Amino acid sequence: MTANPIKITDTTFRDAHQSLMATRLRIEDMEPLAAKIDAIGFHSAEVWGGATFDSATRFLAEDPWDRLRTFNRLMPNTPLMMLLRGQSLVGYRTYADDVVDSFVERSAENGIDIFRVFDALNHEPNLQRAAAAVKRSGKHLQMAICYSLTAEGRLGGPIYNLDYYVDRAKRFVDLGADSICLKDMGGLMAPYDAHELITALKEFLDVPIQLHTHYTSGMASMTALKAVEAGIDVIDTCLSPLALRTSQPAIEPLVVTLGNTERDPGLDLASLLEISDELETILPRYRAQLQTPKAAVIDANVLSHQIPGGMASNLVSQLREAGALDRLNDVLTEIPRTRAELGFPPLVTPMSQMVGSQAVSNVLFGRYSMLSEPVKDYIRGAFGEAPSEINAALRSKIAEEDGGSIIMAPTRPADALAPELGEARDAVAEISEDIDDVLIYALYPQTGLRFLKIKHGLEPLPDEMKSKTLEQVELETVAAAQSSSGAAAEAPLPSARARRFNVYVGDQFFEVDVDPVEVNVPGRQPGTSVAPPATSVAPAPPSAAPAAVDGETSLLAPMPGIIVKYSVEVGQQVAAGEPVVVLEAMKMQNVLPAPVGGIVKALGVSPGAQVDKDDVLATIAS
Ligand code: CO
Repeated sequence: MTANPIKITDTTFRDAHQSLMATRLRIEDMEPLAAKIDAIGFHSAEVWGGATFDSATRFLAEDPWDRLRTFNRLMPNTPLMMLLRGQSLVGYRTYADDVVDSFVERSAENGIDIFRVFDALNHEPNLQRAAAAVKRSGKHLQMAICYSLTAEGRLGGPIYNLDYYVDRAKRFVDLGADSICLKDMGGLMAPYDAHELITALKEFLDVPIQLHTHYTSGMASMTALKAVEAGIDVIDTCLSPLALRTSQPAIEPLVVTLGNTERDPGLDLASLLEISDELETILPRYRAQLQTPKAAVIDANVLSHQIPGGMASNLVSQLREAGALDRLNDVLTEIPRTRAELGFPPLVTPMSQMVGSQAVSNVLFGRYSMLSEPVKDYIRGAFGEAPSEINAALRSKIAEEDGGSIIMAPTRPADALAPELGEARDAVAEISEDIDDVLIYALYPQTGLRFLKIKHGLEPLPDEMKSKTLEQVELETVAAAQSSSGAAAEAPLPSARARRFNVYVGDQFFEVDVDPVEVNVPGRQPGTSVAPPATSVAPAPPSAAPAAVDGETSLLAPMPGIIVKYSVEVGQQVAAGEPVVVLEAMKMQNVLPAPVGGIVKALGVSPGAQVDKDDVLATIAS
């Protein structure tokens, strides 16, 4: 061991799969690796928090608390770290103080040793309560500064300059930080900027400094190296199979790079390679999540669009679900524009989702024709202070909605919230076992409730949440190919245009007939044609109706999501534009207005249900 070894945090079980495979790695696949990672001698392992809590309950029907206890049991030698979004915890809104206190306490008791706490706007008042709760638990408080750039390129400019970061770091130490993290979620930190910034911070800070960066733009390994040279204490890396692209730098090349230098991390390369080989054998089951439309390992465009990894993979899956993957470039162009109009928030959860989803909505449905509730709240200051001025037209839109002038949130937004835990406890009294269950509901009333019903056997485990074997994944690939060849129940006979193709899946091959379907076939069922995607993505207003049949107009789901609630009842008179239903889509609640005025004839879906794009949500007779 050298006198000053660089310390390493492994992110394989949290950020790496969050960045590359939409946080879908299951605990059963991490368990065999956990003890081996524990034996490496990492400074810490980031295994929880961020999107893992949401993903486990929403998509995997997996109890996130159980997951944490499992890590705690299998990794006794490595301090476990979680990512905590300040007053938003592991969710997407500001929670009341009692939820924050309880969540931090339970996380500490279930096994978290290091809390990495950040706020999307670096807004101190949003960090105070969580910081105090971590200090009370006796655990390590690491406070992260979200790294952002004023415009494309380099550190500096009127907002995100050297003074900004030094000032934040000092304030965070005053809040009790045991260490400071530079959180470069977008992979924007250029190597020499890292050197300059860390050198400056080292001058003012006595606590250790850690660098968290993403590979997205291709700079992360170089940035890590310059950070090491500038004297950084800890850096984040992950195992090579889940490294690079939008994830962290790989550990293996860094071990070799720094070997026999004064900053040699002292980790065993052979052991790391062995674990990476094992991880390689697990990943083919996640083929569907790992697929990206791009061939390049890096995305140099990120240097101008500033889109972090998790956000980029979310955008791709949102657009794919909405049948609009071909609009990706339009959305990428729209994001910086939306961000500037919203006062340059750093693109980190929940701001990244808000800016991203608003940009998606702007592209698909027209600019700001549909303003999501979180974006409205952001403009009202409910997430904290915007780094710079918000667009005047947007502000007056909200002012109008608030009856003349914007009703602003308090400086510490949580001050506006009454305690929430009691109500949550009552709401799930019948289907909760303990406070951990209650917290799941308090965090996510819709998807959390659904999870608790599944967990306690009140609802069957939906097929899409079940774990799949490699054979099943391969069969599904084949089935998808067969169904798109017209093998569905009422398949028409192949036309003269049909062509036969050989389709190879692994070492198997199938003969598949492909028969082009005419564009504009009326009543075409989704999934039964191989029509080019462009035909299904004509930009449409959110309340687009297929047709007014016999004076009845349908309100269709503009994208897949979950029905939160209806604002109207059957038989009620509504005016065009009046709110009809709240759809949670892209992790955000959107109010969908009536496409026409008239009498509500039918409400298609019950609250809590999952809907697909174009499902009928309501029928209105005009
Ligand atoms: Co990250």
